Amino acid sequence: MFAIPCTPGRGRRRILAAMEILVLGSSAGGGFPQWNCNCRNCAGVRDGSVRTRVRTQSSIAVSGNGTDWVLFNASPDLLAQIRANPSLQPGRGLRDTGIVGVVLIDAQIDHTTGLFMLREGKPLSIWCTAQVHEDLTSGNPIFNVLSHFCTARWQPVQVTPPLPFSIPGAAGLRFTPVPLSSKAPPYSPHRNDPHPGDNIGVLIEDEATGQRVFYAPGFGAMEPHLEPFLADSDCVMVDGTFWTDDEMIRLGIANKTSREIGHLPQSGPGGMIELLGRYPKPRKILIHINNTNPILDEDSPERAELERAGIEVSYDGMRIQYGDKS
Ligand code: MLT
Ligand code: MN
Ligand code: ZN
Repeated sequence: MFAIPCTPGRGRRRILAAMEILVLGSSAGGGFPQWNCNCRNCAGVRDGSVRTRVRTQSSIAVSGNGTDWVLFNASPDLLAQIRANPSLQPGRGLRDTGIVGVVLIDAQIDHTTGLFMLREGKPLSIWCTAQVHEDLTSGNPIFNVLSHFCTARWQPVQVTPPLPFSIPGAAGLRFTPVPLSSKAPPYSPHRNDPHPGDNIGVLIEDEATGQRVFYAPGFGAMEPHLEPFLADSDCVMVDGTFWTDDEMIRLGIANKTSREIGHLPQSGPGGMIELLGRYPKPRKILIHINNTNPILDEDSPERAELERAGIEVSYDGMRIQYGDKS
C-alpha cells in the first residue's frame, strides 16, 4: 500500500506532521448491532456466531498534525468514540478538546445528533451547506437548541460552484465540498425538492504533501463531476451502506431501495464495485455500512468478492496515515 505509517524516528530531526484520518464510526444509522434488530449480522455479532466487529455510527476525524482534529459528522455515539480515541482529548486543561471544528455532510440523525453531546464546550464552529443549515434550524433544529448551551456558529459551505475552505486551527488542510445526488432527511422542508448541497462529499487535501482523500459516506449515484475525485485521489472513503439495491425490501424492513434513499449499492450493474473498478489509483475503503450488509461478515462470499476487487471495509479505530512532510 502507498499509505506510509508515520512512526517518529528516534533521534532524527524532522517535522513529523502528516495527514491522519481516524475512523470513529464505520456503521450507517442504527449502528451495529442495531438495538432492535435480529438480522443474521446483528444476532451473529451478539452471540458470536458471525466473525465481525461491533461498529458505531458514521464519523471520521481528520488531522494535519496529530493534535488538532476536524470532526466529520457528529454521531449519536460521539462520546464513546471520543473515549475510544484519546488523541481527541489531549487533556491540556481542566476543560479541553482536540476538536477544532465540525463538518457536516448532511442533516441526517446519524451525522448530527452527536452535536448535543458537545454542549458543555466552547462555541462550536460548524461547516455545512445552506440546505443542511436550513434542516438544522427547522425540522431537526440542533442549532436552535445549542444556542441555549455552547452555541453553534454556522460556517457556510458553498457547492454551486464548489468553494474550497480551510478551518482555523487545522492548518495545512484544505477541504473541497462536492455536491452528491442523494436525499434530504424525512424531516427536511425540502425532502421532496432536492437541491445541490443536501448531501456532500469532501475532498480533504494535505497542502504540504498533496495527499488527497475523498470522503463520501452518502453516495447515491455516479455523476460526471465526481470523476476527478474518484480518479485522482490517493484514497476514497465511500458509501458502503448496502450490498444489494433491494436489501431492506428483501428482509421486509423497508419498502425503499438503496438507490431511492441515496445510497449506491455495492453489487450489480452500475454498483459501487463496478464503479470503483474503473479507477486504478486510489486506495478504496467502504464506510457507513448498514447492519444488514453481508460484507460485515468477514467470512462471507460478499466480503471475499470485495477483497478480490481490492476494496477494504472500514472498522471503528481504523487509521489512515500519510508520510511526513520533511
Ligand atoms: C442514511 O444515511 O440513510 C441514514 O443512515 C438513515 C438514518 O440515520 O436513519
Ligand atoms: Mn446515514
Ligand atoms: Zn441488523
